[in-house]
Amino acid sequence: MPELLSSMAGGFWLFLVFGMCGFFFGLILNHFLPLFLRLGPVPRGTFGWPILGETLRFLKPHPSNSLGAFLQDHCSRYGKVFKSHLFLSPTVVSCDQELNYFILQNEGKLFECSYPKPIHGILGKNSMLVAVGDTHKRLRNVALSLVTITKSKPEFLHDIETTAIRILHSWKEKSQVIFCEEARKFTFNVIVKQVLGLTPDEPQTTRILEDFLTFMRGLISLPLYIPGTPYARAVQARSRIFSTVKAIIEERKRNIGNSRKSDFLEILLTVNTLSEEEKVSFVLDSLLGGYETTSLLMAMVVHFLCQSPLALQQLKVEHQKIRSMKQKDEKLNWEDYKKMEFTQNVINEALRYGNIVKFVHRKALKDVKYRDYLIPSGWKVLPVFSAVHLDPTLHASAFQFHPWRWERQDQTCKKFTAFGGGARYCPGSELAKVEVAFFLHHLVLSFRWRSIEDDLPLAYPYVEFQKGLVLLLDHCSI
Ligand code: HEM
Repeated sequence: MPELLSSMAGGFWLFLVFGMCGFFFGLILNHFLPLFLRLGPVPRGTFGWPILGETLRFLKPHPSNSLGAFLQDHCSRYGKVFKSHLFLSPTVVSCDQELNYFILQNEGKLFECSYPKPIHGILGKNSMLVAVGDTHKRLRNVALSLVTITKSKPEFLHDIETTAIRILHSWKEKSQVIFCEEARKFTFNVIVKQVLGLTPDEPQTTRILEDFLTFMRGLISLPLYIPGTPYARAVQARSRIFSTVKAIIEERKRNIGNSRKSDFLEILLTVNTLSEEEKVSFVLDSLLGGYETTSLLMAMVVHFLCQSPLALQQLKVEHQKIRSMKQKDEKLNWEDYKKMEFTQNVINEALRYGNIVKFVHRKALKDVKYRDYLIPSGWKVLPVFSAVHLDPTLHASAFQFHPWRWERQDQTCKKFTAFGGGARYCPGSELAKVEVAFFLHHLVLSFRWRSIEDDLPLAYPYVEFQKGLVLLLDHCSI
């Protein structure tokens, strides 16, 4: 009996041990192993420190027309696709044009936009930049139709040109300017006029600008909601802009039918697919999207032209030709813009070489097999655009500013994603380009310039010229 009992007990333990082993073995066999066998291993790489991972190394500043030490080191060790731990999450980093394209084209299916939580706190849940699914689609459809209506409208083009002339006119007595400040003034005045119909001298414009600058500072600050911190101030600034914009909307509603404005707001008021909150968020998105990025593009163009006298000369000839076909003081129109072919090449090259948006944030919605490896569900995925833009196997003389490459190259190719791609392709791309082109028209016809300090565009990862790009000016006549 005792033998029986002991053999039963032994049998029980054996059963338990084998059972447990079987369970774990089954788990591995049924879940992890097939995943591994079917979908392959995750890409090679390291996770770095606990919690922080490799985030600080990834964010270490470097000239925006270079890869930076982190990407250079990791790509040479692990290849163009590697794993890491960034922004508090296991991450697959992609410096590969095909994978980047695959990620962007599968938005909402395999991958989804996933900006860090603190950014949601500042932008608000109705912002197009963070919204997903149906909300994103509704907001985006409105944005696309607004841009289509606006971009070639004579009033819009006229506003851009008048704003450019006004800014350049203010340089008349100056021998030097801080270009980034001037460019921001220009893009803010253009976008605030276009979206809300406000001119620079209206008190509401000044109020919005002040709050907006606080809001922008918060976007790049430590996300601590403690009164007095830049983050907390940004959240408060957002709610003040919200109230200002709401008041403008209310006033417009009262005057509906009497006003003859042709701005975004006028059209937004007639849109019934968006709630009031979404309309206000839409205004904020347009200001945010249209301000810093476009002014930075202007600074990039001016900076790279300083180093390329041949390109500057060809640009000047193009604009002299366009001007020579117009009456004195006649305004530029959409046909003139279409004639600015070399200007477009210069803009595309500044976008490629300057990398205003280095990467975008995504996450995998399910386990994704790509080539031989697995991108696990829930992992962050970062398509790095700058790495593709600077890849010498894709762009000849990748580390040179060479606008002429765009004479033979289509700007809608996979290897150029300055405005993103797929379902989140930047709706403001054409607005940004026409603004830069019209400003350049008057700049090259009125001034010669050189930069006085070696001020490079640095990726922090938000790109900026640390000294604001100081230019020495020489006036010239056509
Ligand atoms: C040089 C100028 C610009 C650059 C380099 C740029 C770049 C980008 C990029 C890369 C994205 C994709 C983000 C992602 O996939 O997560 C994007 C989205 C966006 N941009 Fe721009 N942008 C510029 C100008 C503008 C302008 C002028 C506006 C508005 C007037 C604008 C509004 C937006 C909005 C609302 C989105 C979100 C689109 C969506 O999620 O569907 N951008 N931009």
